[in-house]
Amino acid sequence: MSSQFNRRDFLKQTGAIGAGVTLAELGHSAAALAQESEATTSEPDRKPLKIGFVGVGARGSCLLKILMELPGVEVRALCDIREDRVERAHRWVVEKSRPEPAGYSRGDTDFQRMCQTEDLDLVLTATPWRWHVPVCVAAMKAGKHAATEVPAALTLDQCWQLVETSEKQQRHCTILENYCYFRKAMTVLNMVRQGVFGELLHCEGRTQENWVAENWHFFDSDGTIGWVAEHLAQYNGNPYPTHGFGPMAIWANINRGDRLQTLVSMSSKSRSLANFARESFGAEHPLAQRGYAQGDANVSLIRSASGVTFTLYFGGQSPQPWSPEHKVQGTLGTCIGEMFDYRAGDDGWLQAKVFNQKEFGRWRNYWDYLEQYDHPLWKALGQTANRYRAWDWSGAYDYLMLGQLVRALQDGRKPPLDVYDAATWSAISELAERSVAGGTSAVDFPDFTNGKWKDNAPTDLSDV
Ligand SMILES: NC(=O)c1ccc[n+]([C@@H]2O[C@H](COP(=O)([O-])OP(=O)(O)OC[C@H]3O[C@@H](n4cnc5c(N)ncnc54)[C@H](O)[C@@H]3O)[C@@H](O)[C@H]2O)c1
Repeated sequence: MSSQFNRRDFLKQTGAIGAGVTLAELGHSAAALAQESEATTSEPDRKPLKIGFVGVGARGSCLLKILMELPGVEVRALCDIREDRVERAHRWVVEKSRPEPAGYSRGDTDFQRMCQTEDLDLVLTATPWRWHVPVCVAAMKAGKHAATEVPAALTLDQCWQLVETSEKQQRHCTILENYCYFRKAMTVLNMVRQGVFGELLHCEGRTQENWVAENWHFFDSDGTIGWVAEHLAQYNGNPYPTHGFGPMAIWANINRGDRLQTLVSMSSKSRSLANFARESFGAEHPLAQRGYAQGDANVSLIRSASGVTFTLYFGGQSPQPWSPEHKVQGTLGTCIGEMFDYRAGDDGWLQAKVFNQKEFGRWRNYWDYLEQYDHPLWKALGQTANRYRAWDWSGAYDYLMLGQLVRALQDGRKPPLDVYDAATWSAISELAERSVAGGTSAVDFPDFTNGKWKDNAPTDLSDV
């Protein structure tokens, strides 16, 4: 067993898999978090919301546990191709003194039987990428709302399937992009809305992960390939665009007054997956001998109809720290830095910094602006949300994101992130592949909203 597999086990134990960070790295101690949780507020009883959950692996388990913390949520059905995972999740639900959920584990498409049989309001999927659209479409066709992990879809055709099914069935389909709920990303959103940066000109976003250190569904110890590496072996573009793009899309009102128009993309050579296979299994192993299409780095340039430009970086498989850096630039000022809100070491890249032309001078620390511009959602629910950092690195953001989704459906309102967000942000994957394959040719974005982007009102993600 290689050191990589040991590291993966360690990350599994700390619950940090899929993110590349541990609680210690975040600068939070469990004791401090427990103390924080004592000061939380209680929420009123809410209307029941019946949920079916598909894919209770690493990520699904986190989401499921947080869902069960939300008032009114009833997890009525669980589906996973692995029966042991359905049983484990079933135990969690029952341990919370909730009614026993039905279990579905008869193979790859058993979610269809779940959608057709169960009385559910919402079906949520945290399966591998290629199942997101089949699950959402099955749910909506059976009259349920759908919510999907990221990316929502892998191809343009799949993006259209989501949009067309949602419109035809009049069901919501939301993307569970928790990076939009990072406190810094939301403070910046508030600053954008209050005009601190003036008119927006340019944004930069990144999906920088350390999937190789985590061995995030790359290679199993028996020498078989995992579902993430299998995808990276076949496609070369940006397979994971929404963490980087989601926050920028909200800042820049994409599909709500502006729309994405053109993309060009370029990939570096591909090295790290083959290197990792060679280190893990030896140079003669088939996984070391086969080709991997995805370049270690991919950069896309995107331009909107109103003339805002975006750069979007993907770097998933070469060794580098997880680091969600963003930039926003306007006619009056700019902010750059990590959007993740830990304070461990207030210097260097860990810090977001702000420049405001009215104040003149040089960079100022992001934290100087927090009190004035903290986002209303964080002001209202941040203390409660922070209790869930002890459960998982993203617990606080998942709590805010899922809470907003659940409350919207309970109240009969449209969820803040809609099917057009899901389709537009996810479309970057195939558009980047096309551009890379065409020698960095320019490709056009489809208008999934069919012109509605001109009149759609901006979202501030502030519903409490
Ligand atoms: N938002 C985030 O920060 C974040 C972090 C990690 C993962 N994710 C996303 O969550 C999703 C799952 O990732 P993961 O790391 O938990 O993967 P995983 O492989 O650990 O979990 C996927 C689960 O789905 C099950 N499954 C596979 N095919 C299925 C099918 N046809 N029907 C029902 N169940 C099926 C698997 O048995 C497994 O239990 C991915 O889309 C990933 O991109 C998001």
